[in-house]
Amino acid sequence: MPDALFAEEFPQAGGLIYLNHAAVAPWPLRTAEAVRAFAAENTRSGAQHYPRWLAREARLREQLRELVNATSVDDIALTKNTSEAISLVAEGIDWQAGDNIVTTTEEFPSNRIPWQAQTQRGVALREVRIEQPGPEQALIDACDRATRLLTISSVQYGSGARLDLELLGAHCRKRGILFCVDAIQSLGAIACDVQASGADFVMADGHKWLLGPEGLALFYSRPEARDRLRLHQFGWHMVEAAGNFDQRDWRIAHSAQRFECGSPNMLGIHALSASLSLLQEIGMVEISRRVLERSTYLYERLTAVPGIRFLTPGEERRRAGIINFSIADCDPARLHRGLLDRNVICAHRGGGVRLSPHFYTSLQELDRAVACVSELIDARKSR
Ligand SMILES: Cc1ncc(COP(=O)(O)O)c(C=O)c1O
Repeated sequence: MPDALFAEEFPQAGGLIYLNHAAVAPWPLRTAEAVRAFAAENTRSGAQHYPRWLAREARLREQLRELVNATSVDDIALTKNTSEAISLVAEGIDWQAGDNIVTTTEEFPSNRIPWQAQTQRGVALREVRIEQPGPEQALIDACDRATRLLTISSVQYGSGARLDLELLGAHCRKRGILFCVDAIQSLGAIACDVQASGADFVMADGHKWLLGPEGLALFYSRPEARDRLRLHQFGWHMVEAAGNFDQRDWRIAHSAQRFECGSPNMLGIHALSASLSLLQEIGMVEISRRVLERSTYLYERLTAVPGIRFLTPGEERRRAGIINFSIADCDPARLHRGLLDRNVICAHRGGGVRLSPHFYTSLQELDRAVACVSELIDARKSR
């Protein structure tokens, strides 16, 4: 897909340099159009064509299956967000006092609080500092015979550090440890393969690198791992014969639909499916290549800025789309505000300024963002 088409899909207003895909991404044009069309249809004819909506829902499940390389759509559930999916796992396991969960000290609260909540059942949460160069080994060393589950973000929201999922997954398999991956900071930015990583559970909301709306998430579960989760939410939609409203006896759905208790988020489904169609057209190999090209470009350009300190690892294989940095003697909150004032949309996270371009961001925009950082530092010095 040529760059001109990227500009068509992302007609961002007024010279905005949008480097905040690790927070909430803009929608492609086709997603806005899908939402408009869905709204118009609802006003015109309500749910007259509901079978068409169901077909769109089925399509989204297939798109998500393909995105994570799951073997079956039966392994894909749609949840409200990442936190809900993680909670389904955390609350579903039959913990025994003395069990432990291994994770990192860097997790976003969505991948910390549901596990902290299990400590009231006598479960220990081991939060491991993952320092370079061997973050995986630090996690592996923290596991012992009482470890029931290892949970990590594929890419850390603050530092942007990317973990080797295959290495961790292989260890978990060997030791019978459940492996849970919060993939929100990598899915849609770099390729994902649940079979290769051996993950038992993978979750990601759609509003970051997947370019969709907030409030609709993927929850992948491996069948054997899924069967180990006790359910806490019930309704018409999570049973084997969903839609047969007269049947009074019921069985839990064999598929991951068991995690979806009621009516689906049809509006979100139409939107996310449109966003994913763009990712599919470009292909995850090309998207990963472009995302890494951009984060490396940013890293290299920023290296020349006096006083720079990267919070993101230097090795390319250790990062995805996030570059986080601070500047000596410069308050990152202030630098962040200065960048926002210059229309460089970014975030203040993990003690630094976090920039997160996507595949369609132009290198010229990255040059302008780096120039803004330099200007802000110069302006501070001359005061
Ligand atoms: C690593 C990580 N997990 C989860 C979330 C968001 O979770 P949810 O989808 O529950 O809002 C974020 C958002 O910043 C995140 O960075």
